[in-house]
Amino acid sequence: MDKKAADSLSKLLPRLKTFAKDFERADWRLLKNRIENEYETLFYYLHTLYGDHYDFFYYLEEVLKTAIRAQAKRSEDLKKLDKERLKNPHWYKSHKHVGAVGYADLLAGSIKELEKRIPYLKELDVTYFHLMPFFDCPEGENDGGYAVSDYRTVRNDLGSMADIRSLSKKLRKEHISLCADFVFNHTSDEHLWAKKAKEGDERYQQFYYMYDDRSMPDRFDETLREIFPDVRRGNFSWVEEAGKWVWTTFHNYQWDLNYQNPDLFNHILDEMLFMANAGVEIFRLDAIAFTGKELGTTSENRPNAHRLVRALNALTNIAAPAVVFKSEAIVHPDFVNSYISEDECELSYNPLLMALLWEALATRETKLLHHSMKKRFEIHDGTAWVNYVRSHDDIGWTFSDEDAAELGINGYDHRNFLNQYYTGEFPGSFAKGKPFQFNPDTGDMRVCGTSASLTGLEKGINNGNEDEINLSIKRMSLLYAVTMFIGGIPLIYLGDELALLNDESYKENPSRKGDSRWVHRVALDKKSMKARKNKGTVENRVFTNLQKMIAIRTKDPIFMAPSTNFISTGNPHLFSFTRVNEGRILLFIGNFSEHSLQLDNDFIRNIFGSGHTLKELWSDQKVQFMHQIDVNPYQFFVLVKDTD
Ligand code: GLC
Ligand code: GLC
Repeated sequence: MDKKAADSLSKLLPRLKTFAKDFERADWRLLKNRIENEYETLFYYLHTLYGDHYDFFYYLEEVLKTAIRAQAKRSEDLKKLDKERLKNPHWYKSHKHVGAVGYADLLAGSIKELEKRIPYLKELDVTYFHLMPFFDCPEGENDGGYAVSDYRTVRNDLGSMADIRSLSKKLRKEHISLCADFVFNHTSDEHLWAKKAKEGDERYQQFYYMYDDRSMPDRFDETLREIFPDVRRGNFSWVEEAGKWVWTTFHNYQWDLNYQNPDLFNHILDEMLFMANAGVEIFRLDAIAFTGKELGTTSENRPNAHRLVRALNALTNIAAPAVVFKSEAIVHPDFVNSYISEDECELSYNPLLMALLWEALATRETKLLHHSMKKRFEIHDGTAWVNYVRSHDDIGWTFSDEDAAELGINGYDHRNFLNQYYTGEFPGSFAKGKPFQFNPDTGDMRVCGTSASLTGLEKGINNGNEDEINLSIKRMSLLYAVTMFIGGIPLIYLGDELALLNDESYKENPSRKGDSRWVHRVALDKKSMKARKNKGTVENRVFTNLQKMIAIRTKDPIFMAPSTNFISTGNPHLFSFTRVNEGRILLFIGNFSEHSLQLDNDFIRNIFGSGHTLKELWSDQKVQFMHQIDVNPYQFFVLVKDTD
C-alpha cells in the first residue's frame, strides 16, 4: 500500500473499531478485512476528489463510518448473499441471465401487485429485474420518477419501503436480482436538501450548484450541451425563493448535485447503502456522465465522474459487496466504454448496439453496425454489456462520427435520415415513431416509439396488411435475437414481449403531453396478456419467439463464450459474428433486409471446416448446406456443429 495511505489507515482503524462497537451486529474482523482491501483505492479517489478540503480526514472517517453502520444493519439473508457473491464475483457473466425492465404501475398497478407478476417474469426466465423509479417525487411533472424527493420513501400510490423489501426478498427466492435506479446526478426541487437550500440554509445550498448571478452560469453555459432544449435553453434555472440560479441539466425541477462537496458525498452514500439494504443488488447509475462538472468543458464524462463512482464502488465492497453497478451513459461510444471496469461499473447499457440495430434496419445495411462492433464491443473480462432493443427513453443516434466517416458516411446527414425514417416521414418507411427534443440550433433530434410501432406493426395493422405484420414480427425477432446471442445480458423492455403499440393517451395528461417518451411507456393490459396464450395471435408469436430464444441462450454454455468476433460475409445486408467456447464454435448470421439473399457456402465452410453436419438452433434442425445458402427476409441462423 502507498505509504501515506497506510499511515492514515493505521491511525483510523482504532477509531473505526471503537465506532463499530456501538453496533451489536457489526462483525469487526470482517469489516477490518474489507476496509484493508479497499482502503488504498478508496483513499486515492477520495483524496483526488477532496484532498484539498481542510476537513478531508474528517470526511474520510465519516464515509467509512457510514459504510460500517450500513454493513451492521444489513439483514442476514443479504449478508449471506454478500458471501455467495464474493465467492462468485462474476455471477453476472452467466448465459443464464435474462433481464427485464418495467414500471410498477404499468406492469401491475403497485409494488404489492407486482409480486403477482413474478410467475410472468419466470415465463421469460428473467433473472434480473429492473424496477423503474419508485421513489417519492413531485406530483405532476417528475420526469417519470427521475426527480427523487426522498430516497427512503416510496411514491404513495405505488406502496411502501416494506413492499420493496418484500418484493426484493420474493424475487431473490426466485433467483431474480432486483435492479433499481440510483438517481444521483440530481434530486427533485422538493427533496429536503433542496427545500433547505431554498430556505437559505448554506450547508444545503452547497449540496447543489447555486449562484447569486449569471456570471458563473454564463461561463459554464458556453461549453455545455443542452439535454432537453424543448424545456429550457441553457443549463440553469432561477430559484425565486433563494434568489439564486441553480444548475439543472435536465428539467428545472431536477437540481444537479454538487460532488465537489464531501458532505454531499457522505450523504448520498448513506442513501445508496440504505437502498442496498432494502435488497437492491444492481444500481443503475442514472446520468452518470454528468456527475463531474468542470468549467470550460462539456462537464460530461469528466475524470471526477469516474473517481466518484470508483469511490462509491469501493465503499459498497465494504458495506454491501453483493452490489454491482450498471452505467447509464448514453454518450459517445468512447465514453460509454470508459465507465466499464470491475472497479467502476461492472455492467453497462450498450447504447451503440441498440442504436445501430435500428440503423441497420432502416438502411438494410450492416456496415456501420459491423464496423462499430468490431471496434468497440470488446470490454474487460470481468464486466458485461446489458444489450437492449428499447428502453423507457428515446433512441439517440449515439454512434461515433469518426466510425461513420471511415465508411464514407456523414454522421450529421445520417442522423437526419434516421430521424426522418423512424418518424415515418421518409418515403416507404415502415416505422411510426415520434420526434423527441428537436434542437433548432444544432438540428439534433431523437426518436420515440415502441419496438412494435417502430418495426412496422402499427402500420401493418392500420393497413390491414398481413405481409407487413409478418415482416414486423420478423424485424422484432431479429433485433432481439442479436441481443440474446451476441454476449452480455439481454434486457427486455416489458411490453415488447407482447408487441405493444404506441400509446397516444399521454397527450391528454397535462404533465406528460410535452414528453413524447410516454408514447412507449405502455401498460401491460389484460387483453394482450391473455392473447399471448392464443396460438397465432401477434402477441403469442412475439412472446413465444422470445421464449424460444431465451431457451436457446440459457441451455447452451456456448453463450458463455468470452469473446465475440465480428466477421464480414461480403454481403452488405448480413450481420454475422462467431463465438468460441471450449473449442465449440457458434456462428450467427442475420439478414437485415426484406429480400431473400444468397450466401456462398464457402463462408460457412471456412468457419466450421468441411464435411460437418451443422445444427441450426433457431429451427432446431440439422443442416447440410449446398453450394448456395438461401437467407430469407430478416431470417437469422444460429449455427453450431452437430454433436448428436
Ligand atoms: C436518464 C433517464 C431519463 C431521465 C434522465 C434524467 O437518462 O433514463 O429517463 O430523463 O436520466 O434523470
Ligand atoms: C440524457 C441521458 C440519456 C437520455 C436523455 C433523456 O442524454 O444520458 O440517457 O436518453 O438524457 O432522454
